[in-house]
Amino acid sequence: MKRALCPGTFDPVTCGHLDIVERASGLFDEVVVAVALSPDKGGGPIFSVEERCGFIRDACSHLPNVSVRPFDSLLVDLARELDAKVIIKGLRAVTDFEREFQMAQLNYRLDRDIETMFIMSIPEYMYLSSSAVKEIAGFGGNVRGLVPDEVSDRLQDRLREGR
Ligand code: PNS
Repeated sequence: MKRALCPGTFDPVTCGHLDIVERASGLFDEVVVAVALSPDKGGGPIFSVEERCGFIRDACSHLPNVSVRPFDSLLVDLARELDAKVIIKGLRAVTDFEREFQMAQLNYRLDRDIETMFIMSIPEYMYLSSSAVKEIAGFGGNVRGLVPDEVSDRLQDRLREGR
């Protein structure tokens, strides 16, 4: 059984993330999307970890070998607990490389039995990030097609509530 982890903060999940998860699901027997609590990232996520997991579960309901769970630990500890030998990350442009390279090296230093593998983003989603989506939605811009429709609806509500 080849199990892979797709970790991230996913605040919120984008169509770019979902494309990576779907492609990973075709390569591994099982893919676990691991949603980090990340309470400190960027001033704190706008969606709770339960909400973030729920969005991904709904969007991946057609993928029977994909499951979603929250985590609040070292990623390599979760990988060991789940017996996952591979961490999958999406790579967009070179701007991602430095941070991803650092995380991959640190995770390798922490556990040499766990490999990080990268899936290149398709050109359509190269420019897409959760923070850009939040910024666009925050100014009332249209994010349909960049995130699942459910996320787009909830994003507008959440940002209105926050005003
Ligand atoms: O969505 P992101 O910001 O790319 O996700 C980063 C994440 C959650 C994968 C990373 O911060 C992480 O693995 N956090 C868990 C803590 C950990 O293991 N840190 C050491 C490796 S950098």
